[in-house]
Amino acid sequence: MCGIIGYTGKGRAEKIMLDALELLEYRGYDSAGIALLKGGSAQIVKGTGRVRDLRKLCADQKPEGTCGIGHTRWATHGGVCDANAHPHRFGHITLIHNGIIENYRELTEKYGLEGRLKSETDSEVAAAVLEHFYTGDPYSAIRRTVLKLKGTFALAIMFDDQPDKIFAVRNVSPIVAAVTPGGAILSSDVAAIVPYTAVYFVLPEFHVACLKPDGIEMYDLSGDREEIEWLKVDWDVTRSGKGGYPFYMEKEIMEQPQVIEETIRPRIKDNMPDFSSEGIPDKVFSACQRICVIACGTAMHAGLVGKSLIQAMIGIHVDVVMASEFMYNDPVVDKDTLVIAISQSGETIDTLEALKFARKCGSPSISIVNVKGASIARESEYVIYTNAGPEIAVASTKAYTTQLAVLYLVTARMAVARGLWGSEKIRNFIKELLRVPEVMKKILDTKDEIHRLAGTILNARDVFMIGRGLDYSILLEGSLKLKEVSYIHSEAYASGELKHGTIALITEDTPVIAVVTQEKLKSKELSNIREVQSRGARVLLLIKENETLDEGEKWSCIYRLPQMEDPFMVMPASIVLQLIAYYVSLDKGLDVDKPRNLAKVVTVE
Ligand code: M6R
Repeated sequence: MCGIIGYTGKGRAEKIMLDALELLEYRGYDSAGIALLKGGSAQIVKGTGRVRDLRKLCADQKPEGTCGIGHTRWATHGGVCDANAHPHRFGHITLIHNGIIENYRELTEKYGLEGRLKSETDSEVAAAVLEHFYTGDPYSAIRRTVLKLKGTFALAIMFDDQPDKIFAVRNVSPIVAAVTPGGAILSSDVAAIVPYTAVYFVLPEFHVACLKPDGIEMYDLSGDREEIEWLKVDWDVTRSGKGGYPFYMEKEIMEQPQVIEETIRPRIKDNMPDFSSEGIPDKVFSACQRICVIACGTAMHAGLVGKSLIQAMIGIHVDVVMASEFMYNDPVVDKDTLVIAISQSGETIDTLEALKFARKCGSPSISIVNVKGASIARESEYVIYTNAGPEIAVASTKAYTTQLAVLYLVTARMAVARGLWGSEKIRNFIKELLRVPEVMKKILDTKDEIHRLAGTILNARDVFMIGRGLDYSILLEGSLKLKEVSYIHSEAYASGELKHGTIALITEDTPVIAVVTQEKLKSKELSNIREVQSRGARVLLLIKENETLDEGEKWSCIYRLPQMEDPFMVMPASIVLQLIAYYVSLDKGLDVDKPRNLAKVVTVE
């Protein structure tokens, strides 16, 4: 959480930073600020609100310079107020921070900082400790400070007497950096860098980067210079704007046919699933006795779909564990457990910590990650990248469906590796997977109809979503989408559970969204729908286009999903639920891409 930016070069740092902060705002958006180093001091402009508010402050205060650092905040320590906004300044140090310094109280006491701090943040404490150790050698001050810090941090630091230089160091929280034609730049992620260059590097943990107008040097903590390992952004950089859509969420929903295609195509060779480019040997898929998926939020919902697929088709036990709960449930993972970590950002701290734990227990691991070179990708033994491109809207859409696409391929490869399916079955499975983009396009062509259906829940206070099996898994995600972008309270229920309590909440006109896509569950699901209808619920039904419904049944709202084999119906149904959530949020006039209280990348536990 929190977006950080630093720039030093020939350009106008304030302009470059404000533009970058807008691109990073999805990481946190309760306050923003910049600092420019000039004439042996730093000018800071900061305050609560969005980057657009910071722009106004800058228009008044006119900061200028060619070397600066900037920050967009998601509050962790200390409330949302001007003083707690970054950058922070203590003595000769100006600093921005992403992460949490857990021992800030101890440090406050140890270095006698009580009463000397201007904010309530842990970040200012880090600035004060740096000041304490600074005697003219930035590397020594950084090394001595970092050794005292407990917790996670990405720090970008300017020293008053080190003109044109920005220093950066990190533990867990990400920092990427690049050399541009006009200078050097660092950021929390590549989104802010791609307007200038496609070549960047990930600063390794506990290494110090020094950005200068003519390049970047990197040192380990003992002061030895190290080679930088450069990477290249491999998605189309023109994809990073809104592309004419009012919100990223709509753009990202619309991109799904293309990004699914780009995720599956390179992994299908001769109609067979193939992970040879990822270097994953079949033994990884055949030797495990069970699978444990660790992930959070939407990524965890993708894991639930994966569990249904793998258990049903491969017959091995799969646990899906909320990464934030993993460590507190005495996890039982061992060398026979294949751990699959799923994460769009690849930086979610809970998932990362759970993965580290599993690796210590000897588990083989595969991560499914969208952001190249992210911590989770680097921490796992094997990585399968989703080719979703940058996902900027806080609500995850295309990352989810590309995660699902990878899980279909994993299921199929597992079947090959274990000798479970004949070649015809595998080819048919792959053929159906390859149909997904075209089916998704069909749905996107009906977005006006879905917009109209979304209107039926626009003014609802609560929306219930019901289904069984895979349909229930899809609805867990559909419900999360609706909650986070529309602020309508919504719950997904396994429809068979309703009678055990929840049906008490169904009264006249209660909106219910029901998904029926699995032939084997259809009759039970329809009975459950009738149960809520007979208590007055207003049901919006999502069902396959060829399904027959009893004559005489009244469906005020029905959406016919294009036909796919049952295990693949997750894909079309998900896209409809994403669009419903999007249109409700849009029609309520909300900030669709930046829902309140949220941030795109969750790097605090
Ligand atoms: O980056 P990750 O996939 O690890 O993020 C996990 C969750 O925070 C994320 O999926 C979140 O639930 C979605 N943004 C919700 O749409």
